[in-house]
Amino acid sequence: MSCIVANSLYKSYGSVKAVDEIDLSVKSGQVFGFLGPNGAGKSTTIKLLTTLIPPTSGKLNILGIDAIKNPLQVRNRIGVVLQQPSYEPTLSVEKSLEKYGMMWDVKRKERKDRVEELISVFDLKDIRKKRNEDLSIGQRRRVQVAREFMHDMELLFLDEPTVGLDPNARRQLLDFLKSKVNSGLTIFFTTHVLTEAEYICDEIAIINRGKIIAVDSPDELKNRFGHAKTIKIHISEVQKKISDLLSNVKDCKIDFNTGTNITINSDESEVVLMKILQILNTNHINIEDLSAVPTSLEEIFLKVVGDSNASSN
Ligand SMILES: Nc1ncnc2c1ncn2[C@@H]1O[C@H](COP(=O)(O)OP(=O)(O)O)[C@@H](O)[C@H]1O
Ligand SMILES: [Mg+2]
Repeated sequence: MSCIVANSLYKSYGSVKAVDEIDLSVKSGQVFGFLGPNGAGKSTTIKLLTTLIPPTSGKLNILGIDAIKNPLQVRNRIGVVLQQPSYEPTLSVEKSLEKYGMMWDVKRKERKDRVEELISVFDLKDIRKKRNEDLSIGQRRRVQVAREFMHDMELLFLDEPTVGLDPNARRQLLDFLKSKVNSGLTIFFTTHVLTEAEYICDEIAIINRGKIIAVDSPDELKNRFGHAKTIKIHISEVQKKISDLLSNVKDCKIDFNTGTNITINSDESEVVLMKILQILNTNHINIEDLSAVPTSLEEIFLKVVGDSNASSN
């Protein structure tokens, strides 16, 4: 079952197409990652999906509800952590959690239990009596995300939840989110940190300039775009004649740093490699080292975003 279905969802601010006719289908029980560079339209998408702003046009169904006609029904069943901080400066950490639980009508006993659980899970013991205004940015972010778990929800939206967190707190948060998904929660979260998307997401959409340019599992994204490998060939001697020999081979670059280095960067790197090996062999040139640099999600991301920019320019 899909708990988010968007069709041609569109939001413009003057001439800026912040979200440009996107289609989305997010299955229940998964972590859906929304990945894109700054200004891509991630936050605007989250605000649209959570009914905080209305779309300029398009259709949106959240948890089976027409979200444009019935935004309040949607809001009762979801959790949202926006990018901008929201806290009452003079409230202590534990009071913030407590108060948020009251806002959501969580019963007293349940509220107490949850406050204690979250203080432990989010490592807030040492700061539980501190006022929000006295916390570091990372601590505030942790409290802001923790607070959302004071109430039950079916679907949680997180806009760059790990910004400002140290690696430990980041990992702890991601693992906590995973555990919640294992017990039935669906999470839609945005990030510009690729390793984090790879770590936690079942599916990833890449957004650039308001448009979704790829949607797939992390593994499939690698399969689809990862064939563009970088292969490096090293020859110990400086052999200037190699430049001439390879002058007709596309997608390879030669430099003479320590010896001769040939770098192949191609969608068909295997084919280019074979051509080069053939030429080197014919000319009795020995190769010292041959290595393939594995494609990371980061390279795929840069390539996909780069291609989409090139085709729209
Ligand atoms: N309230 C607004 N008024 C005018 N322009 C906006 C507003 N919100 C977002 N934008 C523009 O929409 C685009 C997408 O922004 P945003 O959704 O915040 O991107 P991201 O979260 O991916 O960094 C940007 O060009 C941004 O300047
Ligand atoms: Mg944003």
